[in-house]
Amino acid sequence: MNKILLLNGPNLNMLGVREPEVYGRDTLESIEAEVSAYGAERGVAVDCFQSNHEGALIDKLHEAHTAYDGVIYNPGAHTHYSYALRDAIGSIGTPVVEVHLSDIEAREEFRRISVIAPVCVAQIKGKGKLGYKEALDVLLELENR
Ligand code: DQA
Repeated sequence: MNKILLLNGPNLNMLGVREPEVYGRDTLESIEAEVSAYGAERGVAVDCFQSNHEGALIDKLHEAHTAYDGVIYNPGAHTHYSYALRDAIGSIGTPVVEVHLSDIEAREEFRRISVIAPVCVAQIKGKGKLGYKEALDVLLELENR
């Protein structure tokens, strides 16, 4: 595993400002820097991309088929309803780990459903920003299986 994509969906650009009691006070920029540094320690390059637009996220996932060895993905609210993003993940050969900062099982009813999970290799939730690093570990462990 040489190159990993850290992908974040809608409203995650607002981290730090957005409901800090739920999502913490770190900005997306600082989380991206931390995950990239962790990747460097573990010998992988991490590229970061965030978008509020479903089509841009689909394009990036398609690109990941050839450009990346693994994807760490927080789909935001798309998690709960976007069959288009689920199909994008299902269309590529690159393993995807789903990450949520909050525990989506312990919140509103609509957040309990992930239409993305069945096409991901793992789901990590409720661990805050540490979940992104754990996802990187999961991707690296796939190589040793
Ligand atoms: C989230 C959980 C989603 O339900 C929500 O819509 C988000 C963030 C999380 O990281 O906990 O945007 O994916």
